This record gives sequence, C-alpha cells and structure tokens, in this order.
Amino acid sequence: MNELRARLERHGQEQLLRFWDELGEPERERLAGEVGEIDLDLIDELVANLLEDEPAAAAAPGEIRPPEAARPGPEDVLAGRGMLAAGEVAVVIVAGGQGTRLGFDGPKGCYPIGPVSDRTLFQIHAEKVVALGRRHGVSVPLYVMTSPQNHAETAAFFDEHGGFGVEKLRLFVQGEMPAVDRSSGRILLAERGGVALSPDGHGGTIRALERSGALAEMADGGIRTIFYLQVDNPLIAIGDPGFLGAHRRAGAEMSSKVVRKTDPAEKVGLVVVRDGRQEMIEYSDLPDELAERRAPDGGLELWAGSIALHLIDVAFARRLAAGGTRLPFHRAVKPVRFVDEHGNAVEPEEPNAVKFEQFIFDALPLAERSLVIETDRATEFEPLKNAAGPASPETVRARLSAVYAAWLEEAGVGVPRGEDGLPAHPVEISPLVALDSAELAGRVGPGLDVTGPVLLS
Ligand code: UD1
Repeated sequence: MNELRARLERHGQEQLLRFWDELGEPERERLAGEVGEIDLDLIDELVANLLEDEPAAAAAPGEIRPPEAARPGPEDVLAGRGMLAAGEVAVVIVAGGQGTRLGFDGPKGCYPIGPVSDRTLFQIHAEKVVALGRRHGVSVPLYVMTSPQNHAETAAFFDEHGGFGVEKLRLFVQGEMPAVDRSSGRILLAERGGVALSPDGHGGTIRALERSGALAEMADGGIRTIFYLQVDNPLIAIGDPGFLGAHRRAGAEMSSKVVRKTDPAEKVGLVVVRDGRQEMIEYSDLPDELAERRAPDGGLELWAGSIALHLIDVAFARRLAAGGTRLPFHRAVKPVRFVDEHGNAVEPEEPNAVKFEQFIFDALPLAERSLVIETDRATEFEPLKNAAGPASPETVRARLSAVYAAWLEEAGVGVPRGEDGLPAHPVEISPLVALDSAELAGRVGPGLDVTGPVLLS
C-alpha cells in the first residue's frame, strides 16, 4: 500500500487513495487492483499532450488526396469464396461501446431492429455468420468484443439464445482507460473505492484479441483474415467474397470499405492518402476546409466515407501485437460522474472530464498495403447511432425493409409501394433464408402474400 501511494505521489495522482482509510478490505483490494492496472507514465504523457487540445490530424504535413477505390470483379469473388471455403475467415464484431447517443439501456447489440420480427442487431449478425458457414461448408468463427461495462449482459444474452446457432462463438473483453479531470489532469474516482474507467476505444481490439488468446487461436485454426465490423450496422454483407478476394489478390494487410460522401458534414471518418500512405481522418478532426474541397466535377474531392468495415490480416495483427505497437490516443471531452474531494457524488451536466481512446483505423498507415473498396450506401450502410432523426431505429428499419423489398422484386414478387415509393408494408428476410437476392430467388415464388408485413424466417 505504501508502495502504491508512493508511486501515485510520483505522478501527482495520490487523490485516488483519498478515502482509503474509510474503505473495507474488499473495497481496498478492488481499488488497489484498479490503480495497479493504470499505466501512470502513459497517463502523464496523455495529460501533457492531450488535456488541452488534440493536435489536428489534418495539420500534419503532407499532401492529402482521395484514395483510389476499386469495385471487386468476378475473379475477386471467386478468390473470396475460396478463402471462405478454406475456413480462413473469422468475423469480429466490436460491441464494447456505451451507445450513449442511442439512449438504450443495455448493450447496443441487444437492440430490437428487425422491421417485422424485432430481431436484435446481434441476432441479425449471428444469423449471417451461420448462413455464411452453411453456404461454404465450414463453421465461421464469430468473436464479439465487449467491455467490462457490458460483458456480463452481452454474455447472458447470447447464452439465453443459444448463441443464435453460431458454433464457434467467443466473447472477449476490451481494456479500459481512466478518465481525468479536464482542468487538472487528475484521474477521477467514480466512487470512493473505484476509479472512473471507460472502454479504451476499438483501437484496443488487437490488444484485447491478443490478451484473450483469440489471436493465437485464430492463427492455430488456420484463420488468415479477420472480417471486422461494428455492431451498429445491420446491412453489412458479412463475409462479402468480393471484398475478401480483392483484399487477398492485392496482397493487402488491412482494407476498408467506403461509401461516397455527399454531405461535407456527414459524421463518417474519411479515408485519405497522405504522402502515399493510406490513413483515416475522423470526422471530429476534419477541418471544414478539407471536408468541403470540391473535385472538378463538383462532387466532394475527399469523398471516401468510412463505414467502419475492415479486413485485417491475422499476420498483420500479430505483428502489431508482438511489436507492442501503440496506436495513438484521441481525446473525448465528456461529462463523467465522479466523487469530489468531500466524497460527494457529482453528476455533471457539462463535460468535466477527458477520456482517452484508440481507434482501429489508426493501424491503416502501418499496413504494408491497404485496399479501399467502394460500396453502395443504399444497400450497405445505415448504422444505428441516435434515438431519433438520422441513423435512428426508424431509418434503419426503413432501410432494411427497402433492401429486402428490392430482393423480393428481383425474385419476381410484386411488392406494393406507397406514394413515397417505399414498400407499403415492412419486409424482413432472415439471413438464414437468404443472404442476398440471388439466394432468395430460388426460395420464393410470385404467389407470396404481400398484402401485409412480410417476414421470411
Ligand atoms: C464510427 C467511426 C467513423 C465511421 C462510423 C461509421 C470511430 C471513432 N468512428 O463513428 O469513422 O465513419 O463509425 O458508422 O469509430 N466501440 C467499442 N469499444 C469502444 C468504443 C467503440 O467496441 O471503446 C464500438 C461501438 O460498440 C460501436 C463502434 O465501435 O460498434 C463505433 O463507435 P462510435 O464511438 O459510436 O463511433 P461513431 O461516432 O459512430
């Protein structure tokens, strides 16, 4: 204990033990454990560099250009199918975030979003993984990243539903970082015997995969490529063979899927090339001048909006993990509940704290090669972020219905549409019935009843 106190004093963080004398033995143990986990040298460095402001990514030297983006061809699709059939692909879903903007009391993956069935985000993703495996005659492993804040609830949810039929399902927990007081840089206590900790960002994925043994497990099991996605977008074509094959054929180590950005203010990261290396500029770091730059055709010059979908080679991830590569930290200024020096719990309305997070896409410039694939927003991008307005349950359900209705029409089923052109009734197709329109075509006929909500599952 004296050693712990001395260590904290050296870093000016002794306030963490302010209530030590009042704590019982189990609380002391917990607090000592939490404090012991904190890398105080790192906190010193982050406080010195990030407390006031973050050096703007865009201010770094170098000429910024849009990336060259390809669309996969038939040979890519063939190569991707080969990778899937050889059992070389695992899916990783990051679901450790706190989903504050959505205002949902629970892990975001448990949000009911199916337009007819209320299937949850987790169920939709999991069924895609099962269907993908069936299609290719393998069992595709699914790894779900949780955080200490939502792990128990997420694990219980998957258990309750038998893992939605995924045979090789594994949950792994991401790391945490302490929040510091925004003016003093001192680490906050969430309670008298507990540090204010929050998830360390999805940049912690590789470290968490390594620590949990999952990365070694993948390599031992012959997995060569990780299909990485965020829990919030149910439209993602999980295991898209064109994307996989193009990545492999280009010899890429980490690849990204992007959509064409048309609104300069859209909240998506931007894939750019700076001095020949690909990187991503997060929307919060993007100066207006860059966001609004126009190409000769009048469109946005920097157009490649990230849908946060990546392919990451296992060998690349292992290299980063083994070399102890540290991705940069970003700051987020947020209101964080804390106990003040008198031991009173304070629930601030204004942002009082700085949190530190790493982002997975900061690994892009470290890859020897990386590929950018363009996809269509209408079919592959409508994430669930907000309680209302854009990217909300309403828009996500409407988009799912629209995509499924289009599949039905391609299969020869006439779907009644309202004056706004949208399907008159919600439509939903379980991934277990069809993963795409071609698969659906063999499964439905023109006789399907479309006079009310349609659910195929
Ligand atoms: C994110 C991307 C943005 C991209 C957009 C596409 C970041 C920082 N930005 O924006 O570039 O264009 O999605 O929809 O990611 N998560 C964790 N652990 C954490 C933090 C987040 O697992 O510690 C997961 C969340 O559960 C979620 C995802 O990462 O699935 C996105 O996080 P969020 O902070 O909501 O990013 P966005 O602002 O939505």
